[in-house]
Amino acid sequence: MKEKLKVLEQEALKALEATGGPQEVDRLRTQYVGRKGAVTLCLRKMSDLPPEDRPEVGRLANEVKTRLELAFKDAIEGLEKERKMPAEALDVTLPGRPVARGRLHPITQITQDICEIFLRLGFEIVEGPDVELDYYNFEALNIPKDHPARDMHDTFYVSENTVLRTHTSPIQVRVMEKQSPPVRVIAPGKSYRVDYDISHTPMFQQVEGLMVEENISFGDLKGILTTFVHQMFDEETSLRFRPSFFPFTEPSAEVDIRCVICRGKGCRVCSHTGWLEVIGAGMVHPAVFEMVGYDTDRYTGFAFGMGIERITMLKYGIEDIRRFYENDIRFLEQF
Ligand code: PHE
Repeated sequence: MKEKLKVLEQEALKALEATGGPQEVDRLRTQYVGRKGAVTLCLRKMSDLPPEDRPEVGRLANEVKTRLELAFKDAIEGLEKERKMPAEALDVTLPGRPVARGRLHPITQITQDICEIFLRLGFEIVEGPDVELDYYNFEALNIPKDHPARDMHDTFYVSENTVLRTHTSPIQVRVMEKQSPPVRVIAPGKSYRVDYDISHTPMFQQVEGLMVEENISFGDLKGILTTFVHQMFDEETSLRFRPSFFPFTEPSAEVDIRCVICRGKGCRVCSHTGWLEVIGAGMVHPAVFEMVGYDTDRYTGFAFGMGIERITMLKYGIEDIRRFYENDIRFLEQF
């Protein structure tokens, strides 16, 4: 019996070595250690042996059975691994997956360009709150409660005395309250008005400018804005100042630039006028200076404000302002 067990084990291992697939291994397993397998039968026949031989032969039979079971198990696992290998292979020669590069929103880019130009002109960048007191947004800018100019701004009211600022001009007042002249600041920021169409979104962005010193004249305003337009667009872009009205500046002007699309010939973008309105500006109204306690005999200054979307639209030939805020990656990827 002992001999027989040894032979069976050798035979089984040899057969196992020659197998090609998992079914064959399975068949061998049944043949040797299955319920009616050769080794199993040996164990069952233990009772035919003389009692003194049983412990030794029994132990051997059990050992052979355990070893063979392990060998079959290993063989099946090995084959399984081999089968999976090609599918899980790592091809290190494949090119890497490109990582999509992020970029700044076009409005952010143009805001930075605008700020850089004014920084070079000696202006400082300041900011103010989006949720603003009625006082700063209107009252201190010479727009009292019943002033018809309030109708120009379709205001989002947060409460009776709090609004979403309708322009960046309240920052002028906040700056002047805190510091005395000379003042030379620009203030980029979001503004809000109840409006939504091809050229208006309820949230839009402006850059405010303010310069106050002794002897500041309308000529300084023209000089600064001309330099700005030449650097933002090009030297050939001429400007024109048209009389206008803002409660917080006097005199006030709308600043037009030669149409950057048709160069003044007349096109759809400039409504065939050859000019584009891009900046609101003027000399700071003495009433505003009085609100912040500036000496109106000593100081004069100018202020201006422009819509950043408008500048960006002209720069890139975009016709619908709403594109900026739809988060369409196909649109944004172009900048
Ligand atoms: N705040 C004005 C607007 O939003 C623009 C402006 C700013 C005009 C500063 C004059 C001076 O229309």
